[in-house]
Amino acid sequence: MKRGCLVTGVAGFVGSHLAEALLALDHRVVGVDNFFSGHRENMASFADHPDFRFHESSVEEPGLLSRLGREYGGLEVCFHLAAIVSVPYSVDHEEETLRVNWDATEALLGEAEAMGLSRFVFAGSAAEYGEDERLPLLEGYVTPETRHLSPYGRAKHLSTQRVAASPIGVALRCFNIYGPRQDPRSPYSGVISRFIDFAVAGQSMVIFGDGLQTRDFIYVGDVVSAYLAAAGLGAFPSPLEPGVYNAGTGVGISILELADTIRDLTGNPSSHRFMPERPGDIRHSLASIAALRDRSAWRPGVALREGLGRTIAHTLSTRRTAGS
Ligand code: UD1
Repeated sequence: MKRGCLVTGVAGFVGSHLAEALLALDHRVVGVDNFFSGHRENMASFADHPDFRFHESSVEEPGLLSRLGREYGGLEVCFHLAAIVSVPYSVDHEEETLRVNWDATEALLGEAEAMGLSRFVFAGSAAEYGEDERLPLLEGYVTPETRHLSPYGRAKHLSTQRVAASPIGVALRCFNIYGPRQDPRSPYSGVISRFIDFAVAGQSMVIFGDGLQTRDFIYVGDVVSAYLAAAGLGAFPSPLEPGVYNAGTGVGISILELADTIRDLTGNPSSHRFMPERPGDIRHSLASIAALRDRSAWRPGVALREGLGRTIAHTLSTRRTAGS
């Protein structure tokens, strides 16, 4: 059955993959983005789809959801992904981060509840855990006492808490997401997009610190499946119970091993270089995914090597197009 879905942050890395999947499942999608960090090119594959409508706006626009409900009708699910996504930017712009990543979420959720939407699915973050050393990280480890390392982490935590307490709210605490279309160009881009960008150019990758720090990398397609599970769409017949769920793989890998794997897959002959550890870097991050696994049919389906292969292939194909 065709459902009306709102995706905020639709021109972003994850939002654009989610919109593509929803349209492929024959749902209607209203997308919102203000291009603060999203790119119009990310919407290229679906911008002209007959079931897609785009509204250029900040999620801070007062009464946004009611307005979109009136204009497009029949909204049933809201996927709220729009946010200030850079942690360092959040440190320099605390007030703005709290407004966009927390106040706007609260306002949108309030509207969604009043309009009777069936689900409000929120993009939480592993940053909500601060520097918790109890691994794997369980959802219940985040408490009011958790010390967040950035305004980004704090705002995501406040929003997750509010969303998870709503009768229609599901917050997905996403770990390190990677995949095609992740922007490699900023110094704060995800490590995988940066390593691949360097590797396909035959340049050496830069490792901050000793490279023995570990992360739980999840392929963007598996994150999209988690969003579908949350809303009970696609292969998932019923939505997740309201609450908070980690979205990771439960498998960690060191940055050094990651660099070696990418070098191997790309055939890049350059070795890596070491630079001083990034200030505020956490040592290890690993999700417990028991909650999401136990309460849905969702499973991470793409192993790291396979996901890296797909991401490399995409990077190579866009370089070829850009060069032709
Ligand atoms: C990630 C999130 C961040 C969140 C944090 C919470 C991304 C892109 N960022 O940060 O929003 O606050 O989790 O835990 O998902 N590294 C290198 N070389 C590089 C780039 C990075 O060695 O060129 C290292 C970093 O120092 C870090 C690791 O790789 O130790 C991962 O870095 P990154 O991809 O930026 O993600 P997180 O720091 O885990």
